Amino acid sequence: MSLSQDPPALRLHVDGPIARITLARADKLNALTLPMLQALDAACEQLERAHGVRVVVLDSDHPQAFCAGADIGQWGPLTPAQMWRSWTRMGHRVFHRLATLPQPSIAAVHGMALGGGLELALACDLRVAEPGSSFALPEASVGAVPGWGGTQRLTRLIGPGRAKHMVLRSARIDAATALDWGLVQEVVEAAPLLSARVHELAQEVAQRAPEAVQLAKQLIDIEAGGLSAETMAAGLAQALPNAREGTESFKAKRPARFTDL
Ligand code: COA
Repeated sequence: MSLSQDPPALRLHVDGPIARITLARADKLNALTLPMLQALDAACEQLERAHGVRVVVLDSDHPQAFCAGADIGQWGPLTPAQMWRSWTRMGHRVFHRLATLPQPSIAAVHGMALGGGLELALACDLRVAEPGSSFALPEASVGAVPGWGGTQRLTRLIGPGRAKHMVLRSARIDAATALDWGLVQEVVEAAPLLSARVHELAQEVAQRAPEAVQLAKQLIDIEAGGLSAETMAAGLAQALPNAREGTESFKAKRPARFTDL
């Protein structure tokens, strides 16, 4: 399935239990536009309802970049209020939707992951990179602040000192440092091996019990995903024998006889 503008700058492809979202804006290093954010939103909506999809992979088909961030070129004509209403809130909402997908997600990063591009990778559950990749939140150097979850997700992942090192100095770090700091979970050689390894990881996750994987993800992200975990827990509780007993005793106007598991 293709989403967004023509040619599509963001594609969703579902193959059995593994879904793949691919950034494909070749001429601008995958810089993110509003239509791409809308396409990502639509992809997430589809994945939230997709029965049988167990893992989501997010990658890029650009040879040099995962994503060079928000499309700065489109900011010029916007007033501060329009900027906040459209770009900031839209990106924030969509990245939150990606981060709180029921399925775990894996970002396959090769080349640059800058600004919104790094924030996109941070919204995934796992990150795998190739040795030539680089990571930065350079917003301050263009008079902006990371606004799509970067300050919070990066800080949770690598701690405030290292996050400030990156954000306040617009410092770019390499893959080895990202691995050392826990920003990425694995570094694997060269592009074909990167996608092979990410596919292998996705298959590993897909072989685990899907409800257990999804609950565990949301418990780990409890601050962000507490409400989704609550929804799942409520659903699971309904599947237990005591839920049936509770309903039947209510209808029969008698005390419930709950049993231990
Ligand atoms: N927004 C809009 N366009 C972008 C972009 C962005 N974030 N990042 C790259 N591009 C565009 C360039 O303008 C250029 O377009 P053009 O060919 O029409 O001029 C094209 O992508 C290729 O980029 P170019 O700068 O020629 O490649 P490079 O290898 O010399 O430099 C970067 C790559 C990423 C270092 C440089 O493009 C850059 O600094 N981009 C901004 C990154 C950034 O600050 N992101 C955070 C945004 S808050």
